[in-house]
Amino acid sequence: MVNDAGGAGFKSKIQYESGLFTLRIKMPAKKTNGVITAFYLISDDQDAGVNHDEIDFEFIGTEGRLQTNIFANDRGGREQVFQLSFDPSEDFHTYQILYTPQRIVFFVDNIPIRSFKNNTMRGINFPTKSLWAEASLWISDSVVWAGAVDWGYAPFIVSFQDFNISGCPAGSNCLPSPDFSPWTRPKLGPKQLKLMSNFRKKHLTFDYCRSKGNKHRYPECA
Ligand SMILES: *[C@@H]1O[C@H](CO)[C@@H](O)[C@H](O)[C@H]1NC(C)=O
Ligand SMILES: *[C@@H]1O[C@H](CO)[C@@H](O)[C@H](O)[C@H]1NC(C)=O
Repeated sequence: MVNDAGGAGFKSKIQYESGLFTLRIKMPAKKTNGVITAFYLISDDQDAGVNHDEIDFEFIGTEGRLQTNIFANDRGGREQVFQLSFDPSEDFHTYQILYTPQRIVFFVDNIPIRSFKNNTMRGINFPTKSLWAEASLWISDSVVWAGAVDWGYAPFIVSFQDFNISGCPAGSNCLPSPDFSPWTRPKLGPKQLKLMSNFRKKHLTFDYCRSKGNKHRYPECA
C-alpha cells in the first residue's frame, strides 16, 4: 500500500497482536486495470522508513485475480496469485485473514487458500508486530505492476460488509480464541490440508516459490 496514488479506505480502531479478521467484499463492477481493492493487516510504520509487517489480500484489476502477500520486517515478494472461479464483482464474498503465533491463513468463503507457518526457528521471517486491519480501494501509480487505469470507467465503487475482528489487542498477551482451532494447533489436520490443497490445485496461478532464484532467496521455498 506504499505507492498508492490515491484512494479511500478504513481501518480498525486499535492494533492487534493476533486474530481472525473478516470482511465481505463486492468488487467494483466496472473493471479496469490499476484499480486495486485491498484488505490487509499492516503495522503502523510503513511510511516512516521503519521495517514493516503486512499481510495482504489484493484484487488486481480485472477478471477476479486475487493476490496474497506477506511482508515480515519489510521483506515482501511472497506473492501467490489465485484465479477465482466466481466474478467477485457480482456478489459479496467472505475474505478472512487469520494471524496467530502459529501461522497466517487466508480464507475465501471459508476455504483456506494459503497457510504460512511461523518457522522463525528455521530462520524464516514471520511478522512480529501488532497490526491494524484496513481495507481500501486505491489507484496504483505503478503501471508495470497493475496496469494503467482507464478513467472512462470511473467512478469505481467497492462495497464492504460485516467487518469483524475477533482478536487479541496489542499488548494484551491474550491467547488466540479457540474459535480459530484447528488453525492454532502446531500441525494442521488432514481435513484442513485437503481443503486447501484442492483449492490450490485448481486456482493457484502464480507462486513466488516457483520463480527463478527464490528457492535460494526464501528459505520457506526450499
Ligand atoms: C513465532 O514463533 C516463535 C518461536 O516459536 C515465537 O517466539 C514467536 O512469538 C512467534 N511469533 C509470533 C508473531 O507469535
Ligand atoms: C465475528 O467473528 C467471530 C469469530 O469468527 C464470530 O464468533 C462472531 O459471531 C462474529 N460476529 C459477527 C457479528 O459476525
